[in-house]
Amino acid sequence: MGRPVALVVLLGLLVAAGAGGAAPREAVFVLVPKSVIHPYWARVKKGMEAEAKRLGVKAVFDGPTTNDLTKQIEIIEGYITKRAAGIAISPNDPRGVEEVIRKAVRRDVPVITFDSDAPASERYLYIGTVNRDAGRVAGREMVRVLAGKGTVAILHGSLTALNLRERLDGFREEVDQAPGITVVALEENRDDAALATSQAESILTKYPKLDAFYGTSAPGAPAAVTALKSKRRLGRVKVIGFDLSPENAKAIQKGWITAIIEQRPYRMGELAVQWLVRLSKGERPKKPVLDTGVEVVTKENVAALSAGLK
Ligand code: BGC
Repeated sequence: MGRPVALVVLLGLLVAAGAGGAAPREAVFVLVPKSVIHPYWARVKKGMEAEAKRLGVKAVFDGPTTNDLTKQIEIIEGYITKRAAGIAISPNDPRGVEEVIRKAVRRDVPVITFDSDAPASERYLYIGTVNRDAGRVAGREMVRVLAGKGTVAILHGSLTALNLRERLDGFREEVDQAPGITVVALEENRDDAALATSQAESILTKYPKLDAFYGTSAPGAPAAVTALKSKRRLGRVKVIGFDLSPENAKAIQKGWITAIIEQRPYRMGELAVQWLVRLSKGERPKKPVLDTGVEVVTKENVAALSAGLK
């Protein structure tokens, strides 16, 4: 084989390898939430967009419509194939995403988690609330407002997502220490507001003298408010939940919601992009958890805290 022929053959082989092998890297950073069903996620997305703009990078927010692990994995797989520059995930199930995270990292696509963690996976970093502590804060608040006595129903976002399991565990650690408090019901709403509301209504039918609701994720407290309104019991049942919204702020002011544990979703979105960019440049975090913190919102501080709500 003469030299030019060998060169052509070699080039041909390279092209063939390229076509069958990895796709060219797409310069996009991706945030994959559990779902996009609840407005909570719009707050994370806004933070992501602001930070992407500031850094001059492309970022997309792409998740399943509802909390569906299989669909979530499919979406992640799609971005691995495109060889995205980095992926941040809020896993619907921490064990369920371990394999796809391993695959991403093996293919040189850095992965972090935000909002909810998968600590046994190969993700580089978790950015979000320290949820067991947040659950304990909610539990202590519940014991305080019930003066250690009463019945509580839990409107629970998910039995699989780690952040919500931890919010439940932390809460129970605290209320279990108050022998006068009994948890009479626990319903999983899969972060679906309509489902949470109908569950809250059924609970009130079954326990008309219920003393309190605890919502472990964003739809919980507003669902309790809607159900209490229809049963004409607003203000007579304590409600503690997560995530401030203009609607929840108003309910706090009216005394319909007792306390809200406010996370920092906007900040989570900002930090997720920031860290994906840093990881893509080869930087590695020193610690595996970046706590974004929480704030307890009550009648006393709601005006100030909801003023600059992001
Ligand atoms: C949680 C999310 C959850 C969301 C929407 C928030 O409190 O942090 O993980 O899915 O509520 O319901």
